[in-house]
Amino acid sequence: MPERLVSDVLNRPDTQLEVTLRPSLFSDFTGQNNIKERLEIAVEAARRRREPLDHLLLSGPPGLGKTTLANILARAMGANLRPTSGPTIEKAGDLAGLLTNLEEGDILFIDEIHRLQKTIEEYLYPAMEDFKLDIIIDQGPNARSVRLNLPRFTLIGATTRSGLLSSPLLTRFPMRERLDYYTAEQLRHIVVRSAGLLNVDIDSEGAFEIARRCRGTPRIANNLLRRVRDFAQVRHDGRISKAVADAALAMLEIDGFGLDEMDKRILETLVLKFGGGPVGVNSLAVAIGEEPDTIEEVYEPYLILEGYLHRTPQGRVATELTYQRLGLKPGSRQSSLL
Ligand SMILES: Nc1ncnc2c1ncn2[C@@H]1O[C@H](COP(=O)(O)OP(=O)(O)OP(=O)(O)O)[C@@H](O)[C@H]1O
Ligand SMILES: [Mg+2]
Repeated sequence: MPERLVSDVLNRPDTQLEVTLRPSLFSDFTGQNNIKERLEIAVEAARRRREPLDHLLLSGPPGLGKTTLANILARAMGANLRPTSGPTIEKAGDLAGLLTNLEEGDILFIDEIHRLQKTIEEYLYPAMEDFKLDIIIDQGPNARSVRLNLPRFTLIGATTRSGLLSSPLLTRFPMRERLDYYTAEQLRHIVVRSAGLLNVDIDSEGAFEIARRCRGTPRIANNLLRRVRDFAQVRHDGRISKAVADAALAMLEIDGFGLDEMDKRILETLVLKFGGGPVGVNSLAVAIGEEPDTIEEVYEPYLILEGYLHRTPQGRVATELTYQRLGLKPGSRQSSLL
């Protein structure tokens, strides 16, 4: 994307803010109740057996709590979290270095694991399955393979794009969890908690206004809270009510329905260029200038959840809600508007 979208800025992790607002215990982690329950049981069982946790893959759109959960799990296990990410592991030697430096029970957290190179991925298989690492020493005729024993560790992989993971890698994770968007009520709870930590005075309606306009995403909710707080401080007495939140969000051009620019661009293209569909995701992606699988895994799930889009075997189809939302009648095709 040539231009910068407000949504990208809002979804950008703010390291400092994230550390202060990031829950460190299961009890502070709102929502995702089924996932939380399964993970708490896995932790309890592993602790009783005095074993490391099974390897876990966390997937889902950005800002829903994957890194947060990895941190909570490490703390609950009393284990060290060793964070790294797919793109920073450039050579097999980098991975070997990481693995051989682990201690028994450590949690290796590989963020953006879908960006791990395939050649490096293959070294991970025996490491995950048997805690062994086969490395090649020397080159040419002297080259030989040496097998190293690794300490028993846990791999937690995080990805926004689980569809890009190879099936050999996927199947080596005994636990796989996909995080989902949060309800407005859960987000209200998160906003109230964050406001408490940031010493911001907010009432329940003010928090709800932010909660319903943050695209189901805690990170966006926290970022909006911070911006609304600034507005409340400068233009009002610092207190965030529904009216203040509404005025601040309107000034920030945040959609009243929680959609961001990319969502709107997808819906407009679908309706105005493709007559509401059905249209294949590839054609849609070309028209928008985005990768098909980013549309499929990052944007579409929210639009489908909110009832703006259907996936059919023939392609993507706009719903009546989409037309209402764009203020158009079904059948509109005004490609000149784009
Ligand atoms: N369930 C939750 N309860 C409270 N706060 C949450 C929750 N989930 C996420 N957050 C907040 O949202 C922020 C973003 O979450 P996190 O960094 O874990 O997202 P992520 O899924 O790792 O995103 P990315 O894919 O961009 O790495 C956290 O710092 C935390 O403050
Ligand atoms: Mg993360």
